[in-house]
Amino acid sequence: MRSFASTLLAFCAIAFAMPQFTPPSPAAGGGGGGGGGGGKPITGSGIPNVTNARNPTCIPYYGVRDAIMGGIFQGRCGDNARAAIRLAFHDAGTFSLALQANALPNGGADGSILTDPNEVLRSENNGLQNIVRLLGPLPAQLRVPPGDVVHLAGILAVLACPGGPQIPAFVGRPAPRNVAPDGLLPNPEQPVAELTARFADMGFSIRELMALIGAHTTGKQRFVDPTKANSTFDTTVDIWDTRFYTQTADPTVLPGTLKLDSDVNFAVDATTTTDFNRFIGKQAVWSSEYAAAHEKMSLLGGRRDWSHRLQRDSPVEHRHYDSNRSVNWRRETTDRSVG
Ligand code: HEM
Repeated sequence: MRSFASTLLAFCAIAFAMPQFTPPSPAAGGGGGGGGGGGKPITGSGIPNVTNARNPTCIPYYGVRDAIMGGIFQGRCGDNARAAIRLAFHDAGTFSLALQANALPNGGADGSILTDPNEVLRSENNGLQNIVRLLGPLPAQLRVPPGDVVHLAGILAVLACPGGPQIPAFVGRPAPRNVAPDGLLPNPEQPVAELTARFADMGFSIRELMALIGAHTTGKQRFVDPTKANSTFDTTVDIWDTRFYTQTADPTVLPGTLKLDSDVNFAVDATTTTDFNRFIGKQAVWSSEYAAAHEKMSLLGGRRDWSHRLQRDSPVEHRHYDSNRSVNWRRETTDRSVG
């Protein structure tokens, strides 16, 4: 069986931002201010309509895109979209460099959360059962690997949220080989040092973790405090903006919101505060760093060797893993033509 690490992944141009979105002014946005980009139009949201793949590998994925974005998300930054973003993280976030170094069974962005009936029942995955039920039939129906469905869904979900950046989508993951290791996903009661160490073991720097954690801009909680089920992490849960950073760093607790201890700790801990607060009011900076970190997350465990990034109208891009860099893709372009 092919291993994920040696698999050739194809870049498919299936997730493009469409309309422009103008975030509400801070006054209309419900307090905390400064998070939405100052009322300037930002791109994001809408169902992408590109269908002219030059690489035949990509063609089935337009059907996957439509089933997810149209059928499951209904084009909205709603509960299914936010669950899909968390699902992508909970699938990929079981990856461990330490396990890999010891040649032990590993996790990663392989879609195991969709195929292993026990994984989604773990308490750390509470709240993800419904999105697994909705996405679960797609691999068989559309003849694509489960990992591609999970990670395309995560990328499309970000795009469904107004302000959400485009994230390159790679396809061609092999079927999951292992049961994802248990106990590797973070919980909000862990101290900052444990959390940053765990993300380092996934391959993420603190800066990348602080960018990724901004996905809580579109999150709700149900299980941390069930008496406040459906409280949100910021006051603009349906918008991909930087209010999460602004409001988490501010000691005020706004109505309808709940702050995770871990998020509050990131805002103030000496090791994370600079990188956390750097995103306040900086939509473009955050979008770009979030997109890069999410792309990396969507490939965890599968990027050891190399892959081809097949862009429409651009040269093939070779990617090599470089473990000495925190952003560990070294990019080289050649003049080979695309498929
Ligand atoms: C220190 C790391 C993290 C911790 C401790 C953490 C913890 C949590 C918790 C406790 C919830 C609420 C679950 C519930 O009660 O329903 C949640 C929700 C969520 N998380 Fe995280 N998370 C972390 C990192 C991430 C990352 C890296 C992403 C994505 C890139 C992410 C995306 C989400 C989303 C989108 C939700 C909302 C899900 C929904 O509303 O259905 N989280 N997280």
